[in-house]
Amino acid sequence: MRYPSVTGLPFLCLLVTSLFFAHCAGNETPPTGEADSTPVTATATITKAAYGTTSAGGAVDKYTLRNARGMEVEVITYGGIITSLTALDSAGNYANVTLGFDDLEGYRTNNPYFGALIGRYGNRIAGAKFTLDGKEYTLEANNGPNHLHGGVTGFDKVIWEASEVPSDTEPGLRLTYLSPDGEGGYPGNLSTTVVYTLRDDNSLEVSYEATTDQPTVVNLTQHAYFNLSGDFSRDILDHVVEIDADRFLPVDATLIPTGELQPVAGTPFDFTEPKPVGRDIGQSDDQLTKGQGFDHCWVLNSPSGSSPVATVHHPATGRYMEVFTDEPAIQFYTGNFLDGTLSAPGGGTYGRRSGLCLETQHYPDSPNQSAFPSVVLRPGETYATTTTYKFSTK
Ligand code: GLA
Repeated sequence: MRYPSVTGLPFLCLLVTSLFFAHCAGNETPPTGEADSTPVTATATITKAAYGTTSAGGAVDKYTLRNARGMEVEVITYGGIITSLTALDSAGNYANVTLGFDDLEGYRTNNPYFGALIGRYGNRIAGAKFTLDGKEYTLEANNGPNHLHGGVTGFDKVIWEASEVPSDTEPGLRLTYLSPDGEGGYPGNLSTTVVYTLRDDNSLEVSYEATTDQPTVVNLTQHAYFNLSGDFSRDILDHVVEIDADRFLPVDATLIPTGELQPVAGTPFDFTEPKPVGRDIGQSDDQLTKGQGFDHCWVLNSPSGSSPVATVHHPATGRYMEVFTDEPAIQFYTGNFLDGTLSAPGGGTYGRRSGLCLETQHYPDSPNQSAFPSVVLRPGETYATTTTYKFSTK
């Protein structure tokens, strides 16, 4: 029997092609190197696993999104919580850079909103009430006299319906939740969709949509706490932050904006040039005292979604995060209320300022402050906003 000749150039081509495909198929380890130049060596995946059961018997699943470069994001259907997000350092090592807990129990009890979706209203509403179209609505006061992050059972504590958005390179997870009329005191049935998409450029896009059947207010956000060192026993004071905002919102003693838009120039709140979080956080300053550190809303200069509104750099590991949004403001919170009582996975506890949050949003207390951009959503309108966290090294 004669075999076809496989010598010479055709053979070489066959060999190279086979080796290439064998490499693609067999590569299970995360690629290494600079994030942006990491070769695409695998197909993106989405996997689902049972995560736990709430005390009311609700089943909670965990989805793991992995892009073709090897970056992974884990999301649970309870609270739409990001339980892990891996980012490369300059040496090519992946580490989880978002604070979280070992299991569902950790998220159900005493979670300071680690990784969670926040709704219906991210941040505070003064006196836990507002008036819309002449009618007063009373919300749950869960932060002193004020309403915070949607109340006692906000969007961070409900189970979302999940569906996968498969892709060869950019896997996604669609989460939906129908908040019934009157929930938390808010008017209208609010139909909410949040889509997490892990992009091929190592960015996590979070897009939000909501519609209502009665006039209401809405201000959704994501409350991930980042520590780019990947070592949660360290604080974030060495992280270098830049925020493209010439003004911030000073607050009263209960962290409600006074209504003034104060220039950051000449204050510790000036992050228009990159600076370590720890440089000015200890200054004697009335606003820093009120927030016990940074816990304020910055008014973004030109949010567009196409250039970063904030960046975070961790020089020791090289990890770099850029935040893009079309929201008008960002709450920069430096984990001032973490006090060493919450357990971190793998041992130890979360100490003060072991994570920082950059929560894109409308201004706090907008329902009561008519000079602030409106947060009113009416029937027939669609609330739609997108925030992206992009990871690389420098
Ligand atoms: C937000 C608030 C903070 C604090 C945290 C959660 O970022 O602005 O004051 O409540 O959430 O602990």
